[in-house]
Amino acid sequence: MIGLYVLPLYYQFLFQTSVEHQNIYILAIESSCDDTSAAVLYNDKTLSNIVATQKIHEEYGGVVPELASRAHQQNIVPVVHQALAKANIDKKQLSAIAFTRGPGLMGSLLVGTSFAKSLALGLSIPLIEVNHMQAHILAHFIKEEGTTPPQFPFLAMTISGGHTQIVLVRSYFEMEILGETLDDAVGEAFDKSAKLLGLPYPGGPLVDANARKGNPLAFPFPRPKVAGLNFSFSGLKTSILYFIQKQTAKNPDFVSEHMEDICASIQYTIIGILMDKLKKAVQQTGIQQIAIGGGVSANSGIRKALQEAEQTLGWTTYLPKFEYCTDNAAMIGIVGYLKYKEEKFSDQAITAKARYILG
Ligand code: KG4
Ligand code: ZN
Repeated sequence: MIGLYVLPLYYQFLFQTSVEHQNIYILAIESSCDDTSAAVLYNDKTLSNIVATQKIHEEYGGVVPELASRAHQQNIVPVVHQALAKANIDKKQLSAIAFTRGPGLMGSLLVGTSFAKSLALGLSIPLIEVNHMQAHILAHFIKEEGTTPPQFPFLAMTISGGHTQIVLVRSYFEMEILGETLDDAVGEAFDKSAKLLGLPYPGGPLVDANARKGNPLAFPFPRPKVAGLNFSFSGLKTSILYFIQKQTAKNPDFVSEHMEDICASIQYTIIGILMDKLKKAVQQTGIQQIAIGGGVSANSGIRKALQEAEQTLGWTTYLPKFEYCTDNAAMIGIVGYLKYKEEKFSDQAITAKARYILG
């Protein structure tokens, strides 16, 4: 028994005496939902960022947790090999392994967590746990030509398939959730609306593509009244459902005939909800630096609205590169790098955490 407690301390001692702070190579693993991803970072730069998207879920209209974990098990080794090959480094050069500890689907997280733990143990290098939502925010600190990272403090809006949050970011590791969704996440709102329109999963990007060609004012949908900086999207889905039922009773081809206008109207409503809350958060905190993260930050409507806010409201906005919007391991790698510099290592007893609250 004693050995079990002593072993992690021994490894920690081993790493801490040999940690180098300059030429850091991090291998990062992301497996929280339905994308298996591995990335290699050299300090704060991405050398490779491989994402295997699981197509299997399309036929079910949403992520099936059990199929996701099975697909992660199939994908993880080839994805890691590809990431190392593309970065052109040998695993013996790695300084540490970073992995997504949570939040996410337990079965999916277990695959990445177990893989990362084993590899770190086998290579005798530190293991670094990463919160997925923190990674969506800190993706802005990946060094890319022509981009500047946000200055602290800033407001981050994380908009994904699982989350909708407004976060006050005081430093890399000091974050406070100011508001979040009380029901569906914004990505879910996009995906569920798309499903009602007969579009395949994940429907968010398809709603976006159609919306670009439609009239956003064609069909007005009500906006929910939610106190403070919290969100609610479940009512919107219901009003879209009733609207479609009413219209198709009169004209069975209504959806196909008006797809672009319906998508533009849905997107306009969702972006309006997000922007209203952001304006409120700016008013409340006095902070005008805004960064977005998560899959929905790829949406053309939110990107345009934020760029306009720079002109009309004087905000400074930070939009992630498309590659870093949806789930990817490079964002896990940048947190790994930042934690490595502060020697924030995890021990081998660490476990995955499906509900892992930011801050
Ligand atoms: O961050 P992410 O890859 O996974 C989660 O952590 O959830 O986000 C996926 C979500 C999905 O709901 C997807 O439909 C949405 O992001 N999404 C979009 C767009 N691209 C991805 N939603 C609207 N417009 C897009 N262009
Ligand atoms: Zn995500």
